[in-house]
Amino acid sequence: MEDMLKTFPQHVCSWLKGAIVYKYQDVWLNEVFLKGTILAQQRFKAHPNDVFLCSFPKGGTTWLKALAFAIITRETFDISTNPLLSTSPHHCIPFLEKELAEVEENQKNSCSLPIATHMHYHCLPDSVVTSNCKIVYIYRNMKDVIVSYYHFVRKLNKIPMEDAPFEDALDEFCNGVSWYGAYWDHILGYWQASLSRPEKFLFLKYEDMKKDPKSNVKRLAEFIGRPFTIEEENEGVIDNIIKMCSFENLSNLEVNKCGTKLHDEKVYTVENHLFFRLAKDGDWKNYFSHEMIEKIDKLIDEKLGVTGLVL
Ligand code: A3P
Repeated sequence: MEDMLKTFPQHVCSWLKGAIVYKYQDVWLNEVFLKGTILAQQRFKAHPNDVFLCSFPKGGTTWLKALAFAIITRETFDISTNPLLSTSPHHCIPFLEKELAEVEENQKNSCSLPIATHMHYHCLPDSVVTSNCKIVYIYRNMKDVIVSYYHFVRKLNKIPMEDAPFEDALDEFCNGVSWYGAYWDHILGYWQASLSRPEKFLFLKYEDMKKDPKSNVKRLAEFIGRPFTIEEENEGVIDNIIKMCSFENLSNLEVNKCGTKLHDEKVYTVENHLFFRLAKDGDWKNYFSHEMIEKIDKLIDEKLGVTGLVL
């Protein structure tokens, strides 16, 4: 595998103290994701009932994982004993390309948990497509994704803001170079696939979920085959799930303030608190100049205008 890495085009991220990303199947990946993607493509076998939670990094993955886990386990745990209160959502629902063994173990135990991935649609293991699996796709305003990504990767590499020019990060992102970049290709892949099999896809928009969590959580529950009953709704089950999975609640839990998610000791360690920053719509306004806004809006229009998805 190490030798294979050298064969892929590389990019050195200057604003990230020279961190390297590799281009594989037209997608920029760091070493961990690249190795994990190849392994998942070689080994993973989807079951027809598997449900995938797909997202671009910083698009709302943590929130979606928490909600899906809470919906599925609502009869197993009551609201005070749910593992989400003591375990990171990323431990509750592992990533296909980072925790393949755990994903396979969950499949073996038929525990009906969804499988999370940041992989582009065209990179998914063949069996995901041939098994016609359901796919939930969460996406978010691109400008907020950029700001969120900037801080996440910067903090992961322990680089203070003054040493990591935002303009450089933005330029790279707009050139398609970021973890799993390009962002627009990620969205386009899932959107195009959904056109021929719309019943197998659920698109959730982060901003809509913030505005109206209840109807979006109901849509999610129905889509993954665990709809709420009228009694549950009247008893406040949906409201409790929303409250438990809220940014305010999760980000203040001890596990998410101090816990650590080890991805690969040799490469990097992710502390859980990095997945929780502000969760605010429009934080990008604090970072973008007029020129940057024009540039990004033009890019979004050119690349994603066809989808009708409003970013
Ligand atoms: P910000 O950096 O804008 O605060 P991902 O989960 O895909 O890595 O995305 C992380 C982003 O989602 C971060 O955005 C984080 O604060 C936000 N987030 C994490 N948990 C959330 C939750 N429960 N509800 C809403 N947003 C959440």
